[in-house]
Order: sequence, then structure tokens, then C-alpha cells
Amino acid sequence: MAEEIKVAQDLSRESKYEELIPQLRSLIAGEPDLTANMANVAAALKEVFGFFWVGFYVVKNGQLVLAPFQGPVACTRIDFGKGVCGAAWKEGRTIMVPDVDDFPGHIACSPLSRSEIVVPIFAGEEVIGVLDIDSSRRDDFDKIDALYLKKIAAILKI
Ligand code: SME
Repeated sequence: MAEEIKVAQDLSRESKYEELIPQLRSLIAGEPDLTANMANVAAALKEVFGFFWVGFYVVKNGQLVLAPFQGPVACTRIDFGKGVCGAAWKEGRTIMVPDVDDFPGHIACSPLSRSEIVVPIFAGEEVIGVLDIDSSRRDDFDKIDALYLKKIAAILKI
């Protein structure tokens, strides 16, 4: 039977991450396939936090290519350095965008996305993909999200 994610809905966002992360660890521990694990992480984040869009892009032949996600259909390919995702890949760091209208070059997959956070996923020193979360609310992400999403990205490392 598939495992179930159990996180109480009346908690702060930080407490939700605290409850979620050990569950993700055990979910991922038994499965070596990165795609399967990205799919479950996207589903869990969407289910627990209700973000507008949660998903992954992976580096393939010099581009970021759409990988498992939850939410509306999205852009399939992003070039190095382009948009928020391409910038996080190029710079190898988390990028938070409180208002997507203020980020030059932001790639608008949906007009409903208002703020965004993108966390790189590393294999050693190399960025192999990114975790991208979009919110329909402005300024929806802060240092807490950056901290815990980085931990989640680290669990996915291969
Ligand atoms: N907004 C992103 C593109 C991906 S979507 O948000 C799903 C960007 O600027 O890289």
C-alpha cells in the first residue's frame, strides 16, 4: 500500500514543514528512482500547502526540461539563465520572487502566478534540476520556505 502523508492543517507553515520532512525522507528512502521521488514530493507539497503550482525541471542537454509537477500545464523548456528557474540554475542558489512582475525576464507560464521560489537540486557541485513553486498570492514565500525547501531538495539528491 502506498504511504500516506499526514500533516495537520491548523499548523503554522514551519510546523507543517517539520511534520512533512521526516515523512518525505521515509517515502524517498525506499525508492532510488528520481522521477518517482520528484512526483511524490510535488504531490505532497501541493497537498499540504495548496500552492498554485509545484514542480520540477531537470537539466537535459543544456536546458531545463519540465519534470513531475502538480498544477496547471506549464512551459516545457527553459534556457540557462532564463526566467527565475534558469537564474537559480545559473547562480546555483535559491531565488525568491515576492512579485513576479518585478523580476525581469520572469517566464509567465500562468497569469495567476504572483510570487515564486526556485531551489536548485545538486548532485555534488552540479545543479541537476530545480524545485519551482508558484503561489497565486503576492509575497507568499520567506526564509522559512527557503530553509525547508532546501532540505527537501537535499533529500532528493542522487
Ligand atoms: N516562472 C518560471 C517558469 C516556470 S513556471 O512558473 C511553472 C520562471 O520564470 O522560470
